[in-house]
Amino acid sequence: MILITAALPYVNNVPHLGNIIGCVLSADAFARYCRLKGYECIYVCGTDEYGTATEIKALEEGTTPQEITERYHKIHKEIYEWFGISFDIFGRTTNRHHKEIVQHIFKKIYENGYIIEKEVEQFFDPQANMFLADRYIEGTCPYCGYKGARGDQCEKCGKMLHPEELIEPKSKVSGAAPIKKSTKHLFFDLSKLASALKEWIEKRSVEGFWSENARNVSLWWIKEGLKPRAITRDLKWGVPVPLEGYEGKVFYVWFDAPIGYISITASLTEDWEKWWRGKEVKLYQFMGKDNIPFHTLLFPGMLMATGERWTLVYHINTTEYLNYEGGKFSKSRGVGVFGDDAMKSGIPADVWRYYLFANRPEKADTHFTWDDFYEKTNSELIDNFANLINRVLTFIKRNFGEEFVCRAHNTPFLKEQEEIAKEIEECMEKVKLKEALHKIMHLSKNANRYFQERRVWEVVKEDREEARRIMEELGLQVRDLAILIHPFLPHTSQAILSMMGVGSATWKDMGREFKMRLGEIKPLFKKLEKKEIEEMRKRFGEGEEEVGLEKFDIEVGKIIEVKKHPNADKLYIEKVEMGDGVRQIVSGLVGIYTPAELLWKKVLILKNLKPAKLRGEISEGMLLAAEGKEGVEVLFAEGEVGEKVAVEGKKAAQKEKMVTIGDFKKLDLRVEGGKVVYKGKPLTVNGKEIRTEKVKEGVVR
Ligand code: MF3
Ligand code: ZN
Repeated sequence: MILITAALPYVNNVPHLGNIIGCVLSADAFARYCRLKGYECIYVCGTDEYGTATEIKALEEGTTPQEITERYHKIHKEIYEWFGISFDIFGRTTNRHHKEIVQHIFKKIYENGYIIEKEVEQFFDPQANMFLADRYIEGTCPYCGYKGARGDQCEKCGKMLHPEELIEPKSKVSGAAPIKKSTKHLFFDLSKLASALKEWIEKRSVEGFWSENARNVSLWWIKEGLKPRAITRDLKWGVPVPLEGYEGKVFYVWFDAPIGYISITASLTEDWEKWWRGKEVKLYQFMGKDNIPFHTLLFPGMLMATGERWTLVYHINTTEYLNYEGGKFSKSRGVGVFGDDAMKSGIPADVWRYYLFANRPEKADTHFTWDDFYEKTNSELIDNFANLINRVLTFIKRNFGEEFVCRAHNTPFLKEQEEIAKEIEECMEKVKLKEALHKIMHLSKNANRYFQERRVWEVVKEDREEARRIMEELGLQVRDLAILIHPFLPHTSQAILSMMGVGSATWKDMGREFKMRLGEIKPLFKKLEKKEIEEMRKRFGEGEEEVGLEKFDIEVGKIIEVKKHPNADKLYIEKVEMGDGVRQIVSGLVGIYTPAELLWKKVLILKNLKPAKLRGEISEGMLLAAEGKEGVEVLFAEGEVGEKVAVEGKKAAQKEKMVTIGDFKKLDLRVEGGKVVYKGKPLTVNGKEIRTEKVKEGVVR
């Protein structure tokens, strides 16, 4: 018995192509293969609905978590249906069995002594009256000075943070300054299971043929020392903790979500225990690589700690990331193809499926690019595969009529093809999906070549029986290809079988004689057109545009007047002499420099910044300063007024376009070892490096 799961997608995100190939689509190919093979199997998935993210989203949208989850669950379901994902059930972690099973598992773990209680201090938003997860606190990064750093990590410099470290922390929910408040939490002490887990992983990773990466990551965590993990949260949206003194608290989403696999199975069948407590079940779990430790340590650890019999993961199948046109998918920036976009694209699901499997990020990240999509679709899927089907069936119908029996012949051609089919089966057994698909295309290429080399269109005129024999072999190949391709392109498989009048076919039918009753033969796909691809490229964004220094006009200016802003305590208004005249610049340097320290100094000014009014005073550019642990330091320059900055002697090009503060942040100018650098290379004015005295490491803002 084979139990297949795909990581339960967070309900409140719309999945993009990378998410889709990473989990549900990959698992789908394997599930479809298992069914073709006649294995007893089920494929279980659903939305991961509890937790902070949903609660906050509801707050932001002024609605309830229930409403959010209903709405988004439907979106997920529709997308996956459109892609032809053959779940046995696509459920939700809010199903009616969930709470009971989560609480049962918790109670067992608790009784067996794996739970520790700790009083901890946590940030609390006094205005929203709620505890805040680290990532919902924002402030200034102590390492690089970035203003929008999150309490768990600074997006700018990438450092892991604790909310305590943030300068001027604010709640993302209400904007109020968070206060510390003490609260009790439960911790799951995984360290007690370290040796049991290690032993199990060492054995299971071999029998379940885990990837090197999945095994290493898991063992590394154990080696680093498993620490007790908090499994409760001060939230409303979750499974209540069934313990005295924990009223009003719920389980952390990573504690309840994996149990969702079980409760969703329970929503599918009353016999769910046969799958989750039975002896003969092999559990295959599909997910993105960031999910590994949760599925090889936390979830198995939870189940082990119950002391009961549970099905633990057999094969874990993970993917790396699919990038979009050299950047990341981003719904908020409107970049990349999301599930709902694909549905509306007018391009059939199987074309997307083909490309995603052919580009499946198995060992390294891969890239979705429109050029590659165009190329692979037209040349591999259509010219090779679809064309074979079409020419073979058309030829048979034209020369031998609608009814045609295909038999296996003992030819070197069929022998070689059979070998390849066997290799494909081996790949599928080991869930090497990309390789299997590649071999299927190889099989189809061979068949095309056979058709070509045997010159059937000539043979049929001289030796009809010989031509018939060749076409019997090729007809057989077409039917077998329809079977082999089914896990990847189910709609196409169905279309081929129905053109041949074959009701259904399973893996066992491969190589076996059958009779076709040809109906209307239609092309399987329409070729993609360059024009259409160009439109898509525009519609779905070009990926993250690289912000290069050449877009920024940075020039030496001399401060010729400094005065305090009349309506702002922290701002100075400076008059700066530039190469093309005097400009007014407003900057927040009060308390950092006295006016005397700034006057007559040469500084760097970002000139083509969109002018902005700061408390009623116009600022026509920005005075650059470095910001780091040591504080703020103005970048004083030694060049002539009007001189431009350069990198490696190259001065920036033409820049009549205005830029925004956001663009400048992305540029990522930094101070490293007391020098201003761009991509690790020193910035210069008049051939001289720009140096800092006080701030040795930081960012330029
Ligand atoms: N929702 C998680 C994610 O999208 C995955 C949860 S998998 C489960 O990364 F095991 F917890 F269900
Ligand atoms: Zn930082």
